[in-house]
Amino acid sequence: MSNKKFIHKILLPKKNKYIYSLLDEGLSTNDLNEGIKVLKSGRITMGQKTEIFENKFKKFLGSKYALMVNSGSSANLLATFASCNPLRKNRFKKNDEALIQTLCWPTSLWPLVQCGLKINFIDVNPLTLNVNAEDLIKKITKKTKVILVVNVLGLSADIKKIRDFCLKKKIILIEDNCESLGAKYNKKFLGTFGDFGTFSFFYSHQITSGEGGMVICNNKEDYEILKSLRSHGWSREKKTAIKYPHLDPRYIFINSGFNLRPTDIQAAIGLNQFTRLKKFIKTRTDNRDKIIKSLKNHKKWTGQFSFVKVPKKVSPSYMVFPIFLNIKFRKKKVKFINFLESKGLETRPIISGSFVNQPSSQLFKLNLKKKKYPGADLVQELGFVIGLHTKMISKNQLKFISDTLLSIDNL
Ligand SMILES: Cc1ncc(COP(=O)(O)O)c(C=O)c1O
Repeated sequence: MSNKKFIHKILLPKKNKYIYSLLDEGLSTNDLNEGIKVLKSGRITMGQKTEIFENKFKKFLGSKYALMVNSGSSANLLATFASCNPLRKNRFKKNDEALIQTLCWPTSLWPLVQCGLKINFIDVNPLTLNVNAEDLIKKITKKTKVILVVNVLGLSADIKKIRDFCLKKKIILIEDNCESLGAKYNKKFLGTFGDFGTFSFFYSHQITSGEGGMVICNNKEDYEILKSLRSHGWSREKKTAIKYPHLDPRYIFINSGFNLRPTDIQAAIGLNQFTRLKKFIKTRTDNRDKIIKSLKNHKKWTGQFSFVKVPKKVSPSYMVFPIFLNIKFRKKKVKFINFLESKGLETRPIISGSFVNQPSSQLFKLNLKKKKYPGADLVQELGFVIGLHTKMISKNQLKFISDTLLSIDNL
């Protein structure tokens, strides 16, 4: 099939519902009722529900502070802008350098560019989808002031090694944990290793509030910066009012700012979902094991696919199921993805692929030297994801998934 035909087909709205979609029902009746209660109360802007969710979230993860925002992208934006804020003692400056993996989401990267950092990319290990700590440490120079590590699809690098190195060199570490809520490295939750940890509650993530996110940190100074940046640069603290007695205490702006606040509707839904996180992790892990088993026990199985290797010391928390085609099928990828979609098996690429291959990366001249990132390229070329549901997968679904995937030999 030509690429043109593929593009036409894949962008068309689907006539039939997927037989196996990326997410099952997403929000339960109970989740929705919690949102509706807030709506009916007439007070829908950020308030008590957000505060309760923030408190439960930070307690669960063992971090000192948590701040809810309207998306994971906003969490990354806040973490990055807080890292160069004049109120922060150890901050980066314009033209300092940042390290980030090429297999990232756009809004993992763009805040670093928007803050005036020079970007150095690093490749990922295609077997784990994550960076190798040793490779990353080798790439650090005297100019590196920020490292943004994405914990990809419920797994991570040796994040402790990276964190320890950053602490020694006073490099700011932002952990984009938007895809890995509930995963652990060496029994410690991912997201808690960095100066900042960010989370997304978008549809199909570990938990969802429709749109929503969280940023966590352990430092009061950072928390206060994040809090004022989230909301117009505002401070409504008593101590600020006392410091500026000539100003109306309701309207004191102590910093630059955005408006990245969530609504209490999102917080109520997210909070209700959060109570089921552990159950979701267990069911998704079991469903992943069952899909792999069903494929490997299928009479047509000859090693057509491979699966991500869980790195040492990582306890995963999956949101979707990444699959790699055997390299002999590399030319069939487009045809195969289109086949899966047409049969009702919903797919997505693995994050954005290698971000240096995206036009926006060229627009902002991020890889002028045209460096190669073969690990991320391989992930882009051979990888894709299907859903991992929060309800136990049925025998029929397993049969449908393995029969459909294993039709690859006949294409
Ligand atoms: C690694 C990563 N970072 C950030 C985001 C952005 O999160 P959101 O969609 O909530 O803005 C995503 C979204 O999927 C992501 O995968």
